[in-house]
Amino acid sequence: MPRHQDVVLGHTSSVGSSAQQGHHHIHLTRQIRIKHRFPPGEQPLRGPITTSLPGQRPVFERGSRPASNLWLEISTSGAPEEAAITEFGPAHAALADTYVGEDAVLTYARAQSARTGIRAIGPSGGAALRLLAAAVDAKAIAEVGTGTGVSGVYLLRGMRPDGVLTTVDLEPVRQQYAREAYHAAGFAPNRARFIPGRALDVLPRLADGQYDLVFCDGDPAESQSYLAESLRLLRPGGVVCFEGVFQEGRLAEPEHHDPQTRAVRELVRDVRESDRLLPALLPVSDGLLCAVKR
Ligand SMILES: C[S@@+](CC[C@H](N)C(=O)[O-])C[C@H]1O[C@@H](n2cnc3c(N)ncnc32)[C@H](O)[C@@H]1O
Repeated sequence: MPRHQDVVLGHTSSVGSSAQQGHHHIHLTRQIRIKHRFPPGEQPLRGPITTSLPGQRPVFERGSRPASNLWLEISTSGAPEEAAITEFGPAHAALADTYVGEDAVLTYARAQSARTGIRAIGPSGGAALRLLAAAVDAKAIAEVGTGTGVSGVYLLRGMRPDGVLTTVDLEPVRQQYAREAYHAAGFAPNRARFIPGRALDVLPRLADGQYDLVFCDGDPAESQSYLAESLRLLRPGGVVCFEGVFQEGRLAEPEHHDPQTRAVRELVRDVRESDRLLPALLPVSDGLLCAVKR
């Protein structure tokens, strides 16, 4: 019997779960945005899935970064026992994002990010950053790639109340959006230091050993240089994080040889093999590579 898989994406304000005959749901939805029917034999969802903000066209991409407030419903005509084993992968990614929940400030910053044409870190990755910032009791964080402030809001929410986020971006206009987001989130202006410019011009000007966490989300082709700078900037016990190392699936697909993918592969190897680092590759957002500086 042909076996179809329906994937329905929408936005939700709450999360629940249930398993019925041939159906698995992670949802309590406000509305259905789109329904996509994959034909028999197609394997559409083997990595995280993504959709976009309300009003935008949802995207179905293998290995791409999940967005906020995603809910997912998978229906199958296959046996529920089989479905229970094989069809929860994408549901896990969706659940990790919906689990966090994002408030109006993050929703707004994320919408600005989408309008500007850049990809903000997903909610699960943001939550991991917030957790790490809190775990190291961060007083000083350096960020490459301010964007419109999604990652910055998560970092600030994890830091100590007197902590300062130093954030670098080529584009002052994006930093202005981020400034507004931090303000809307209730952070005093002195909690963030915005430095416009190229990361590799700015990072060498920051002080040695003074940072508890360095978050790299700028130009992936420069990843190895960011790593070298991060090792200099971090105190022992500090954490470095790189967002987007899955490269929307290209990292693990050998046919991709472009300079950016090659640079990220080198980064992933260097971090794993460095005797100065204790690494973990977290499968949140588009791959968050983290390491503690020994
Ligand atoms: C993926 S976005 C950052 C998203 C942001 N971290 C977030 O999650 O909300 C990448 C940002 O890096 C900036 N960027 C790209 N190359 C850069 C470079 N060489 N130096 C500084 N910033 C750079 C871009 O202008 C863009 O705003």
